[in-house]
Amino acid sequence: MAFMGKGGSGKSTIAGTFARLLARRGEPVLALDSDPLPGLPYGLGVEVDDRPIPDDAVVEGPEGGPRWVLAPGIGPADVIERYAVECPDGVRYLQFGNTSGEIWAVQRAQFAWSETVHGLDRSTWSLVGDLPGGTRQAMFGWAKYADCALLVVEPTAKSLHTARRLLHLDRAEWGPTTIGVVANKVRDEADVVRIEDRLDRAVMVRVPWSSAVVEGDRHAGAPLDVDPDGSFVAEVDGLVDRLVPAYDRDVEVS
Ligand SMILES: Nc1ncnc2c1ncn2[C@@H]1O[C@H](COP(=O)(O)OP(=O)(O)OP(=O)(O)O)[C@@H](O)[C@H]1O
Ligand SMILES: [Mg+2]
Repeated sequence: MAFMGKGGSGKSTIAGTFARLLARRGEPVLALDSDPLPGLPYGLGVEVDDRPIPDDAVVEGPEGGPRWVLAPGIGPADVIERYAVECPDGVRYLQFGNTSGEIWAVQRAQFAWSETVHGLDRSTWSLVGDLPGGTRQAMFGWAKYADCALLVVEPTAKSLHTARRLLHLDRAEWGPTTIGVVANKVRDEADVVRIEDRLDRAVMVRVPWSSAVVEGDRHAGAPLDVDPDGSFVAEVDGLVDRLVPAYDRDVEVS
């Protein structure tokens, strides 16, 4: 899965919760952050100092190939083993990189992240990705690993505008098999109707506006830790239920 949508729509909060709930069902989950300003750790409930793939794991690529590649002897599985952070419920978290260091280090980490993600053994991991807000990364193929894109949309005009653009991914050759609309911060039925009308699509799940989630956010508390029995977690859990059979790693998706 890859969560996408406008900035602030709730991608990281939902993705982190989704990843943990999926892991609780026994899946080996790798949570992928492709935002250089990571938000996913807050959704996962893990304290992560910036810990990108380090420089000594990356070397210059061959002529005509990618600019930077993983160093000899380091494969995607080694990157996960060495650098992915352990999170609650057994989720592993792989960070893209930060911008506080030397600027080119970020670029090297970005190439290494991409090589890792696209070279991973797909029978080993269930991938749950969190994209930065907007359309850019999604349109440039950053979530090619995803069978299913989950489009997180708030019932606001700007969020809907972004979502409409992202629906064009339907036509991308390498795009996801399915795009599911996740309505977030829903207050009433009218919110859902507005989203469905504007996107001309049925909403897959309605995640309610939650004051407990907002309150938790003030103290960096993830929904699963501050309000495990609340409606936010219940709806995300329902989304996991719905998607697990369709994307079981052992079942061919047609
Ligand atoms: N259902 C909800 N009810 C209330 N607040 C929510 C809900 N979902 C998310 N939020 C709040 O909305 C804000 C944005 O959430 P989040 O960081 O997950 O969005 P994002 O889409 O990942 O943003 P960015 O594009 O900046 O990465 C946070 O303060 C979060 O606590
Ligand atoms: Mg985010």
